[in-house]
Amino acid sequence: MVRPSGKHGSARLVVICVSLLGLALIADFLWASSSSSSSSNSAFSSYHDLILPSNDKPKQPQPKKKEDASGRVLSATFADLPGPELKWEKMAASPVPRLDGAAVQIKNLLYVFAGYGTIDYVHSHVDIYNFTDNTWGGRFDMPKEMAHSHLGMVTDGRYIYVVTGQYGPQCRGPTAHTFVLDTETKQWRDMPPLPVPRYAPATQLWRGRLHVMGGSKENRYDPALEHWSLAVKDGKALEKEWRTEIPIPRGGPHRACIVADDRLYVIGGQEGDFMAKPGSPIFKCSRRNEVVYGNVYMLDDEMKWKELPPMPKPDSHIEFAWVFVNNSFVIVGGTTDKHPVTKKMVLNGEVFQFNLGTLKWSVIGKLPFRVKTTLVGYWNGWLYFTSGQKDKGPNDPAPKKVIGDVYRTKLKLSL
Ligand SMILES: *[C@@H]1O[C@H](CO)[C@@H](O)[C@H](O)[C@H]1NC(C)=O
Ligand SMILES: *[C@@H]1O[C@H](CO)[C@@H](O)[C@H](O)[C@H]1NC(C)=O
Repeated sequence: MVRPSGKHGSARLVVICVSLLGLALIADFLWASSSSSSSSNSAFSSYHDLILPSNDKPKQPQPKKKEDASGRVLSATFADLPGPELKWEKMAASPVPRLDGAAVQIKNLLYVFAGYGTIDYVHSHVDIYNFTDNTWGGRFDMPKEMAHSHLGMVTDGRYIYVVTGQYGPQCRGPTAHTFVLDTETKQWRDMPPLPVPRYAPATQLWRGRLHVMGGSKENRYDPALEHWSLAVKDGKALEKEWRTEIPIPRGGPHRACIVADDRLYVIGGQEGDFMAKPGSPIFKCSRRNEVVYGNVYMLDDEMKWKELPPMPKPDSHIEFAWVFVNNSFVIVGGTTDKHPVTKKMVLNGEVFQFNLGTLKWSVIGKLPFRVKTTLVGYWNGWLYFTSGQKDKGPNDPAPKKVIGDVYRTKLKLSL
């Protein structure tokens, strides 16, 4: 480590600090003025770029401002991890672009639900992607009372359970309404509502029960620790009320939740999220502090949470961005810690593998761009992703365009 020696050193350190502060202020100003005057994609840019002063102070230490030896600030791409290049093939795009939608795969079909089309418009229908002939089709409506984003969702292979979520565009309130879809008859039925509504809770079927845990509380920001379950079978609730289960060690939305080998895993996610601007008649989204995590928690027979090795870097917005193949979790993209200087949201452009045999994480490839909240499927050796929000470009990992594109690559797992 280089230490400043004597008076000269500390004077130089002060100069560096002052210039850093100046740079940050200028960046802040430029960016604040650009976000109020931006034109194309402005809805989503402001959703993701606008920082308002927040009363919610971070619970975690802020990431340290990093600088290289000459005192220059980090490039915007600092968070990218090295990984093999993959050959991605662009497929037929989804009928609509969507952000914060939901998806589950049943055999060769990917059912894609809801999501924001723009920050002011949410979808209320389902689109289906057929992995056999790589086409979209089979559009049908969702129930009117069903949430449009931040849903909990899971399937048993025929029935799709749809739990709570945000109702409406911008940063509107959540609903506790819960539904089940029979994918064979396309019939929807009501399920007992969650005891209180949540945003993007971790949701899975485990040992005959529908488990719902974490997420954000009713104000969209506060991390919830509660965990409930409901006995279900063939699309029917076997109980009238949700049972209280062991709370999760860390709350918050946008995590992957996976059952494998009769164990339940909760991966990544964040604490904090955008909130409705107080008094805004349209519940306009305003950014708050978020802290992103890479923790892996696991529940087994003991019904006590255990912690496994964390992801290579913090990763959130991955609730439908995973598949389970050959005893490995594969996770596509997401968001990581905000940029330490610009404070902008930073997207991930890696494909991660967690091998359950070795409990080791690796980066098995790079995406065609960084992207968050993708909807992911796996069929016949191909890894697919669609939807979400991509970066501004190779040198700028901040979120920009909401996409409906579909990409696939031949998946090759490392041993
Ligand atoms: C998916 O595509 C295959 C091949 O074209 C077709 O046989 C099958 O019926 C399709 N499935 C659905 C549900 O449309
Ligand atoms: C999964 O394992 C099988 C058998 O070892 C192998 O043939 C296949 O390539 C593996 N799949 C992936 C995606 O690596």
